[in-house]
Amino acid sequence: MSDAGFTIKNNMLKLIKINKSFEQKKGLNKQKIKVLTDVSFEIKQGDVLGLVGESGSGKSTLGKIIVGLESQDQGTIVFRGQALSSPRKARPLEMQMVFQDPLASLNPRHKIQTILEEPLKLNTNYSESKRKQIVKKWLDIVKLPQESLNRYPHQFSGGQRQRIVLARAFILEPKLVVLDEPVSSLDVSIQAQLLKFLQHIQQIKKMTYIFISHDLAVVKYLANKIAIIYKGHIVEQGLSSEIFIHPKHPYSQMLLEAVPRLGRPIKTFGFSLDSSTPKDYLCPFETHCRYRAYICSQKPPPWQKISPTHGYACHRGG
Ligand SMILES: Nc1ncnc2c1ncn2[C@@H]1O[C@H](COP(=O)(O)OP(=O)(O)O)[C@@H](O)[C@H]1O
Ligand SMILES: [Mg+2]
Repeated sequence: MSDAGFTIKNNMLKLIKINKSFEQKKGLNKQKIKVLTDVSFEIKQGDVLGLVGESGSGKSTLGKIIVGLESQDQGTIVFRGQALSSPRKARPLEMQMVFQDPLASLNPRHKIQTILEEPLKLNTNYSESKRKQIVKKWLDIVKLPQESLNRYPHQFSGGQRQRIVLARAFILEPKLVVLDEPVSSLDVSIQAQLLKFLQHIQQIKKMTYIFISHDLAVVKYLANKIAIIYKGHIVEQGLSSEIFIHPKHPYSQMLLEAVPRLGRPIKTFGFSLDSSTPKDYLCPFETHCRYRAYICSQKPPPWQKISPTHGYACHRGG
């Protein structure tokens, strides 16, 4: 295979300056709220990128933009070497998204057999027996008994339901899966099991994940790369080891000061997106930052690279 071929294959996803605003009602008026500002990152096949940030920071919106459930206002998404249209013409089957609440994403009137077989029916021309065989295989992989096929979603626990959702997301063998807080609605003991399982599938199938979480401990377990998002800005990104050992951005440092434990959400600073940052090109963390300096209110923070893989947006040096 040529080098170029390898590069395209190896580069799974590249985001270039994604921007997104929403109109929101404020009293009788509508106002535009900037939810994502110049979000850029790149991931390779087999990477697990942990996208970490507090509630309202734009994580789910970014996930939906990546899989094509929302469209960006500006910016480019390159998937396996190809720029994707916005809005998407077709939903790429090679990308799937799993949401936090498994019950909301399963049709309560359908048996598990129907739920799992549906993506195969719609998107392949496999025979019925082949479809049934694949469904059985995935039920095994997610460690649910074969009797589950004749049951309905409400007959399962939260953790089991999330396994069903995962089996459905994985059944077409996507290249990239956006997991949007997939374990947050579950008990801590179940979370650990499901994380192990997600790691197992990732390894056996060499999958690429974008793992969205507000919980650093969850991300630490799975991710080899981390991007930290604050008010729709990526403020720092790097390898997991770099971020956990040498966080550079003051916001990342604050997040990491509390030793993360499974199930404990990260600190929040009580922001609302429409206040405190008058100009979206300035540092979003300025008003909360303990190192705040005059320059922070004057100039956008530079992206400082401290290794080929690790960078952060801040005026403050080393
Ligand atoms: N469809 C929408 N219409 C208007 N505002 C939205 C919409 N979706 C998200 N938002 C707003 O965008 C911001 C980011 O939301 P979201 O991406 O869900 O953040 P997170 O997943 O990090 O909690 C929030 O202020 C939210 O209210
Ligand atoms: Mg969310």
